[in-house]
Amino acid sequence: MTRSSSVLKRELFSGNEVTIRNADFMLRTAIYPGSFDPVTNGHIDIIERGFKLFDRIIVAILHNPAKKYLFSVDERMTLLRESLKKYPDIEIEAFDGLLVDYAVQKNAQAILRGMRAVSDFEYEFQMALMNRRLNRNVQTVFLMTGLRWIFTSSSIIKEAACFGGNINGMVPPAVNQKLKEKFGR
Ligand code: PNS
Repeated sequence: MTRSSSVLKRELFSGNEVTIRNADFMLRTAIYPGSFDPVTNGHIDIIERGFKLFDRIIVAILHNPAKKYLFSVDERMTLLRESLKKYPDIEIEAFDGLLVDYAVQKNAQAILRGMRAVSDFEYEFQMALMNRRLNRNVQTVFLMTGLRWIFTSSSIIKEAACFGGNINGMVPPAVNQKLKEKFGR
């Protein structure tokens, strides 16, 4: 994917003036896929780190056949939109199918995944290698989550919230509110 082709600047190369157009720059695009059931501050930390490497990040709600979801796709989408509203350029979508096919459809060069502890490694490694086997042109990039979020996961947060535990500061306010409503607390 390239930017629109308006003239960006004129520069001198070897004494000759050269016009550089926006279209000359490739956008570095990453898909940040996940279940996001629901989005946590750990996910947002990875997105913020991702923006230091990529021009464009597409947050994609995909189906993980190993999971039973608490929130519908629409609810997860609404919570992501609300939680990421300070990033107006971010794209949030849902896709039902293979992640690598979606990456190709979006002209993305990379899949972005967060890595917390060693316990994440085996699953992430397996998934990255399968995705590579399915499409060698899409690279998986792992970013280490901030230490604050090393133990945070959507599952553990849902478990704590379900029993009335205090999850302030671990999820965006809209998610906290929605979890309270879901569990009637
Ligand atoms: O947040 P999660 O549940 O760890 O995310 C896993 C997810 C949704 C990214 C993964 O299950 C996925 O990519 N699902 C789409 C189907 C697919 O392409 N699977 C990977 C190749 S086996």
